[in-house]
Amino acid sequence: MARMIIHEAKGPVELRVGNESKWICKCGLSKNTPYCDGSHKKTADEPEGKVFKYAEDGTRKEVWQEGSNRKAIASA
Ligand code: FES
Repeated sequence: MARMIIHEAKGPVELRVGNESKWICKCGLSKNTPYCDGSHKKTADEPEGKVFKYAEDGTRKEVWQEGSNRKAIASA
C-alpha cells in the first residue's frame, strides 16, 4: 500500500532533550528521518499556491497549482 502526503513546512522544528537540540524534519524530504538533514533547503523557492513532487535524486516537478483539479496530484 502506498500513500501520498503533502508537507507544507519548509524547515525543521527544534526538540530540546536536556541540554541538547534535536532538529526534527517537517518538510518530508530528509533521508535521515525523523531528523533534519538539510534537504528542506530545496523547498526555499517553492511559490505559494503550487504543489511539487520530489524524486529520489532531489529533482522536483510541479504537479498542481491553485485552481486545478486536485485529482491531478495522484496521477503525476
Ligand atoms: S526539515 Fe526536512 S530536511 Fe530539514
